Amino acid sequence: MSAIFDQTIINNMALSNRLVRSATWEAMCDDDGRPTGRLTDFYRDLAHGGVGLIVTGYTFVSPEGRQLHGKMGIHTDEFEQDYRKLTGAVHDAGGKIALQLVHAGGQTDTKNAGRQPLAPSAVEVDQFPEVPAELTRDEINRIAAAFGDAARRAKEWGFDAVQLHGGHGYLITQFLSPLTNRRTDEYGGTIENRSRFAIEVYNSVRSATGSDFPVMIKLNGADNLEGGLQIDDAVYAAGKLSEAGVDAIEVTGGTPVSGARGPVRKKIDAPEKEAYNMDLARRIKEAVTCPVMVVGGLRSIGVAEAAVNEDGVDYIAMSRPFIREPGLANRWQEGNLAAATCISCNGCFVAGLKEGGIYCVVEKEEQEKR
Ligand SMILES: Cc1cc2nc3c(=O)[nH]c(=O)nc-3n(C[C@H](O)[C@H](O)[C@H](O)COP(=O)(O)O)c2cc1C
Ligand code: SF4
Repeated sequence: MSAIFDQTIINNMALSNRLVRSATWEAMCDDDGRPTGRLTDFYRDLAHGGVGLIVTGYTFVSPEGRQLHGKMGIHTDEFEQDYRKLTGAVHDAGGKIALQLVHAGGQTDTKNAGRQPLAPSAVEVDQFPEVPAELTRDEINRIAAAFGDAARRAKEWGFDAVQLHGGHGYLITQFLSPLTNRRTDEYGGTIENRSRFAIEVYNSVRSATGSDFPVMIKLNGADNLEGGLQIDDAVYAAGKLSEAGVDAIEVTGGTPVSGARGPVRKKIDAPEKEAYNMDLARRIKEAVTCPVMVVGGLRSIGVAEAAVNEDGVDYIAMSRPFIREPGLANRWQEGNLAAATCISCNGCFVAGLKEGGIYCVVEKEEQEKR
């Protein structure tokens, strides 16, 4: 039996295989961030498809941390019943679900944030649509506390884990990156200082959820931008998070302005192009004691098995393959080992932006031809 189908445990959370649905914004929430029945159905389908762990789309912890429309929010107690239905549906289908927590920081605009965006420094960089306002220490403390409140709600409302979004140029990465963090106080300068916010957010979440609840992070191994976060600094931050008690690190890379080296690369049409964050994941794996997940272009079971058996990575995370094939894990487990059919065209993302919800446009076209 393939190592991909090992049963494992992350801090009391039992998982039936090593496949993870990486966080994916579905654009299926109400304008205020309330999850809908349609989103619940989407997660139910994924759970039925056999993936070991579903990580939700990024979910804002505070209204000014909102980015794209249709994004989930967990900044208020008002959505309790909607979230309980969602987690209940996943559990009834035999799945496990982690909530991804985010603050977009400067990587949003006034329209979505409802105010001038907030960031570590008021800098004009390609990553930011507008020049943001510099966070005060009180605001930093408030946001770290908002992550804690959000995680407490997630735990109470039935999520099996939370994952902090420390990748793709959002607020945690903005603190880690020297390009976006030009502060001269204890949050800026050395990597020890630039990691402080990530550790404070982690500590806030841990104290809100207790020691027996899985708290994970998706972390950029590098921003792939001149002047941005580099692997040596990411290794330092990962080591500190692991020492502090984080339960798993999913390694990603890039930001929306990293071009061909962004987080969601196109045309993954050969095994050599798969697992494009593997070098970063290997470096982080060497530096930490917690399990490591790798995401980015994984498509074939052979590459996934090599990541586990040869590189010692613990989990294989995928996003787009599960949009096209929510049943991919079951298909592989049942012995149909053909690579994921996703062609990495990013048409699903465009559908999320323009059509009020993601779906696989290629699969739809093919179904229409059949
Ligand atoms: C439609 C879409 C939405 C995404 N939303 C998120 C998100 O909310 N949070 C996140 O960490 N990554 C998000 N990503 C990035 C994926 O999680 C993943 O890191 C990236 O797509 C590479 O993996 P893949 O090649 O398996 O798709 C999104 C990707 C897509 C295509
Ligand atoms: S539209 Fe379909 S084939 Fe294209 S990237 Fe999205 S899931 Fe993959």
